Amino acid sequence: MNIQEYAKLLRTRWVTVAVTILVGLLGAVAVTLLTTPLYKASTRLFVSTISGSSIADTYQGNRFSQERVDSYSELLTGQTLAQRTIDKLGLDMTAAELQANVKATSKPQTVLITVEVLDSSPVRARDIANTLSDEFVVMVRELETPEDGTSPDSRVVLEQRASIPDAPSVPKTTRNIAVGLALGVLAGIGLAHVRDLLDNTVKDSDTLEEITGSGIVGNIPLDKDRRKKPAIAFDNDNSPIAEAFRKLRTNLQFLAVDNPPRVIVLTSSVPSEGKSTTAINLALALAEADHNVVVVDGDLRRPTLHKYLDLVGAVGLSTVISGQASLDDALQKSSMPGLTVLTAGAVPPNPSELLGSLSARTALAELRSRFDYVIVDSTPLLAVTDAAVLAAASDGVLMMTRFGYTKREQLTHAIANLGNVSAPLLGAVFTMVPARSAAYSYSYYYGEESGKKASGT
Ligand SMILES: Nc1ncnc2c1ncn2[C@@H]1O[C@H](COP(=O)(O)OP(=O)(O)OP(=O)(O)O)[C@@H](O)[C@H]1O
Ligand SMILES: [Mg+2]
Repeated sequence: MNIQEYAKLLRTRWVTVAVTILVGLLGAVAVTLLTTPLYKASTRLFVSTISGSSIADTYQGNRFSQERVDSYSELLTGQTLAQRTIDKLGLDMTAAELQANVKATSKPQTVLITVEVLDSSPVRARDIANTLSDEFVVMVRELETPEDGTSPDSRVVLEQRASIPDAPSVPKTTRNIAVGLALGVLAGIGLAHVRDLLDNTVKDSDTLEEITGSGIVGNIPLDKDRRKKPAIAFDNDNSPIAEAFRKLRTNLQFLAVDNPPRVIVLTSSVPSEGKSTTAINLALALAEADHNVVVVDGDLRRPTLHKYLDLVGAVGLSTVISGQASLDDALQKSSMPGLTVLTAGAVPPNPSELLGSLSARTALAELRSRFDYVIVDSTPLLAVTDAAVLAAASDGVLMMTRFGYTKREQLTHAIANLGNVSAPLLGAVFTMVPARSAAYSYSYYYGEESGKKASGT
């Protein structure tokens, strides 16, 4: 993975990364708040040994001191001394508990030993450190004094006594936060990676082209306004989404120039991929370029065009196919300029059968003779056969694929369904592409150019 792919991963998965960082930080704060504060008091011991005056004696003496320092460090954290300290101070703890909180360290090449004591009370930390050191001085004297009562070769002096520590040394707030942050960042990046590996939705142009085996003819950006008002008022609208539809219009005009498609079915793999919204706006974009357009609701199961365009839904395609109304009675002018609509009509019990009927083909043929473009909205391919049936009767199909939503297998299946009925695939359309995705910025860059060209057509 190169840097750009990495940046893209982090950009698309920034929520995951942000959440893990937050969890890391909250974890660090929780650990800090839940940790009992511990205070550290320390003393310093000086080990003095008696050495002779010759060079050999001095060398021997040095080694002797070093060995002493090492052994004393062991004894300082030993059980005997801990017990003596507890007895002396009358502490309510076991020797093991005290030992766990005592640390003795010596710098190499010195005869100094630093004793550190941790305790939840600053005063007690100081008392333990001092008493333990005092007791140690006594203990060394006992241990080092030869049996014949001569003076010992080594002794320990308490060189620096402990004072009351003013701030706790545990928890280390800054360090905890830094560790929480670092772990959060690492876990976030890791999780973003894992999610990316597990995510098998279609999210880039190459994959879309590869699976559909056709070119991308549209990249429709995500536009929250479309949820409230599906139809775009193309008049004076130069928003990215309007430009994207103009670009789709231009691309359509370049497809199959010898035999330009005029009856176009819009379908997708699964529900909610933006078929109906795209059908309406593609029709509006074509109408903007002075084409005579009708948009047909071919979704006889869950029709939406009449709702999206505020029209009456009772009479429409199903009524015309079943012979209960003529096309003239069923076609409606929408409030949008230049857009004629054929809604779905009453929901029939047998939509696939109805759409596959000769009567349906006749109706489509009649629409083709009256309009420059017949844009047909339809059902998802994986749910029912309706769309495939309509597609087979059309000049070509536009395959909607919702960015980061449709799974690769679903799209593969849907394309196979189209292939089974030998429906001509005109191209793929990416829908609801987030503005920050690379697929969108690519399309927008070119979209602007051709959008301007197209508005002049
Ligand atoms: N470009 C877009 N930006 C933002 N939201 C969109 C866009 N296109 C469609 N939507 C929203 O996505 C949802 C599904 O859109 P739409 O009804 O057009 O999809 P559909 O494929 O026709 O669904 P169905 O399969 O149910 O017929 C709707 O809430 C719609 O407002
Ligand atoms: Mg729909």
